[in-house]
Amino acid sequence: MTTTDGSSADATLAALRGLRQSRRFLPDQLQRADLERLLEVARWTGSAKNTQPWHLIVVTDPAVNAVLAGYGAFTQFLEGVAASIVVAVEGHGRSVAYDDGRLQERVMLAASVLGIGSGTAWFSDETAQQKVRDLLGIPAGLTPWSAIGLGYTDTTRPQASPQLSGRKPLEEISSWERFGGR
Ligand SMILES: Cc1cc2nc3c(=O)[nH]c(=O)nc-3n(C[C@H](O)[C@H](O)[C@H](O)COP(=O)(O)O)c2cc1C
Repeated sequence: MTTTDGSSADATLAALRGLRQSRRFLPDQLQRADLERLLEVARWTGSAKNTQPWHLIVVTDPAVNAVLAGYGAFTQFLEGVAASIVVAVEGHGRSVAYDDGRLQERVMLAASVLGIGSGTAWFSDETAQQKVRDLLGIPAGLTPWSAIGLGYTDTTRPQASPQLSGRKPLEEISSWERFGGR
C-alpha cells in the first residue's frame, strides 16, 4: 500500500473510504487461486505477540453456506455468497477480538483489490457457534465467531438498509490535542 505519487494516493484513499459491506452477490463462482491469495493475505495479518490465534475454513458449497446463513440474526446474506471464510479463533477477550477483526478487515480489503465484494457475518451466540463447529468439524478449542462472505457484488441491488449507511460527522468522533479540541 506504499504510495508516493499524489494521484494514486488519492485513488487508494478514496477506495479505502468507499469500501462498503457487500450482501448481494452475482451467481459467479470465485477462482480458487483468488481464494488462496486471500488466505495468504490473512496468514500475514499481525496478531498480539504473533500468536496467530485463528483457523480459516473456506466454504464454497452453496448448501453449506445456506445452512451457515441460518446461524445468526444478520447472517442471512451468506445464502448467496460464492464462498465464505469462517474465522475460528482460539481464546476470548480484547486481544483475540482485535486479532480477529484485523484479519477480517485485511481479507476484505484484499478482496476489494481483486474486485471481489465481501462482508462479515456474525454468528449469534454460543449455541449458534456450536452449530457452526458441528457443521464444519471445528474442534472445541476454537470459536467460530463469524464468517466473511465473498463474491462478485450484484451492483443492481441495494447492499444495506439506509440506517446502515452514512457516518457521523468527523467533529463528533474526533478531537485535536484534547477531547473536544478543534
Ligand atoms: C463487529 C461487526 C459485526 C458485524 N456483523 C454483521 C453481520 O452479522 N451481518 C451484516 O450483514 N453485517 C455485519 N457487519 C457490517 C456492518 O453492519 C457494517 O460494517 C456497517 O453497517 C457499516 O456499513 P459498511 O461496512 O457497508 O460501510 C458487522 C460489522 C462489524 C464491524
